[in-house]
Amino acid sequence: MANYVMEYSNKLILAPMVRVSTLPMRLLALRYGADIVYCEEVIDFKILATTRYENKILGTVDYVSSDETVVFRTCPEEKGKVVFQMGTSNAQRALKAAKKVENDVSAIDINMGCPKEFSIKGGMGAALLTQPDKVKDILTTLVNGLSIPVTCKIRLLPKLEDTLALVKMIESTGVAAIAVHGRLKEERPRHANRNHVIKIIAESVNIPVIANGGSKEMRTYEAIGTFLHESGCKSAMIARQAEWNPTIFRKEGKLPLLDVCKEYVRVALQYNNVHTNIKYCVLNMMHDDMELEQGQKMLAAVSQEDISDIWGLRQYFDNLKASWKKTEMELFNTKIDITIKKKPDGTFDFVEMPVRYLKKDYPMGVSAKQRLFEWSKRKKVSRPEYKTVEREGDRYFMSVLTLGSCTYKSSFWEKSKSLAEQNAAIVASIVLDIDDGRKPGSCEMTDTVAAKWRELCQEENSPDNMSETAGQGENGDKLSETKRKHKMSETNITENQGEIANKRKCDDSSEGGGKNSSELKVGDEENCQHSNETSRLEGASVNKSGLG
Ligand SMILES: Cc1cc2nc3c(=O)[nH]c(=O)nc-3n(C[C@H](O)[C@H](O)[C@H](O)COP(=O)(O)O)c2cc1C
Repeated sequence: MANYVMEYSNKLILAPMVRVSTLPMRLLALRYGADIVYCEEVIDFKILATTRYENKILGTVDYVSSDETVVFRTCPEEKGKVVFQMGTSNAQRALKAAKKVENDVSAIDINMGCPKEFSIKGGMGAALLTQPDKVKDILTTLVNGLSIPVTCKIRLLPKLEDTLALVKMIESTGVAAIAVHGRLKEERPRHANRNHVIKIIAESVNIPVIANGGSKEMRTYEAIGTFLHESGCKSAMIARQAEWNPTIFRKEGKLPLLDVCKEYVRVALQYNNVHTNIKYCVLNMMHDDMELEQGQKMLAAVSQEDISDIWGLRQYFDNLKASWKKTEMELFNTKIDITIKKKPDGTFDFVEMPVRYLKKDYPMGVSAKQRLFEWSKRKKVSRPEYKTVEREGDRYFMSVLTLGSCTYKSSFWEKSKSLAEQNAAIVASIVLDIDDGRKPGSCEMTDTVAAKWRELCQEENSPDNMSETAGQGENGDKLSETKRKHKMSETNITENQGEIANKRKCDDSSEGGGKNSSELKVGDEENCQHSNETSRLEGASVNKSGLG
């Protein structure tokens, strides 16, 4: 049975609102006096398709889809107060989705009031109001399967007795509370909210009923009291008034709109909200004041930087970005994972590094792949060959590049085959010390990985390393073998690697190495497959770590 920690009596609640009730608005509502905040509705399928990761840079927990959209972001400040609202039409799927977020939220709410076509067609939202068996199945499954409270948000049915039958059945499932929007599914905000029907509902059940739908007449904090009185409830859920000015929750009264907008922008930038979402929310807040300079400028804003300029927050945002970068680099430095496999003769067989091709880091018309190809032509060595695999599920790509006798790959999965190939080309360029054409100082991460690579090579070639190895074994053969390996490693990181590798292949054959060279080929194939397999797992963990 659910373990109820969230109390729903005597509460002021920020309503779920698509695109509005994201983290910045929820935090503002809490800071201004809301007790509980609902997130925007997230469809069960959508949350199931995300990856959860702890974002150490922002101090948040993020649920991120494969196209890197943050579907849900939460932070410690809203712990114990955030409700995850879900759209669903299936009990088992709803449970699976709720289980996924269970430890990061305080309650799960099921949206049974959305009248939008996509919801109704999918059997979700207000479509559930006339399917009591399904409602019972979904709510009972969630109540029994979760350790956090379950609630739902409904609209009214045309007949009072049908509405009462529905809420009584909902109560019997064990939900912790029920939010009631006092309109029919066909009605729009301009229609009067039936506060008196909410009152009848509140009197007919023993669980808290949360009154909703009163924004039209609720311009002040005191008016919330009137709404509660009329609807006979102890808790109110506020949507539009909070969307227009979240200081509606303030006992002391609303704050001036421009101050609130600026505060919203500050919090939104702090949590790196996308500029489109910031713009949407600020324009909603300014809907009655669009003639103001800030409103006009917001209409034209196309980036977080533009927005921060409008609100006098540019320095603040630049400082934020610098601190994110610093943390990112610190985290990255401790996580740079370079995998090297060597052949028995000590030469490189396979190298994997966490590098990524970003178009903005290269001058127009220049790419790592093209530079590598030109290098191979100039050096008259075999052309780079790319083998690319596509990951099931999100259809991301990973490429393995063969050049000479070594294979190269990045640990990142990419949205396109061509990006995956560019990544592999950067790895080869680092190992072979080829200028891949990126603008100097443009890609700190690639530069850091390249520096780490040089460090590794130096360590391996250092006299200390050699004497240490020599000291370990009294065997003279061992020492000469070590030296030979170092020598080979050294040649591997020069521009001549391809030539040398090719030459070695020939030498192997001429020394009766026909068998060896075919073994080498088979080894390369195996390695290719193995590295894809390995990177599948590592790619996932890289994404989770937030460095992807
Ligand atoms: C922009 C916007 C988005 C909304 N999105 C949701 C949603 O995701 N889930 C939901 O249950 N209701 C949603 N609603 C409905 C509100 O939660 C609320 O029921 C309705 O606006 C009536 O409350 P009010 O009078 O306080 O605005 C949305 C309303 C608005 C204005």
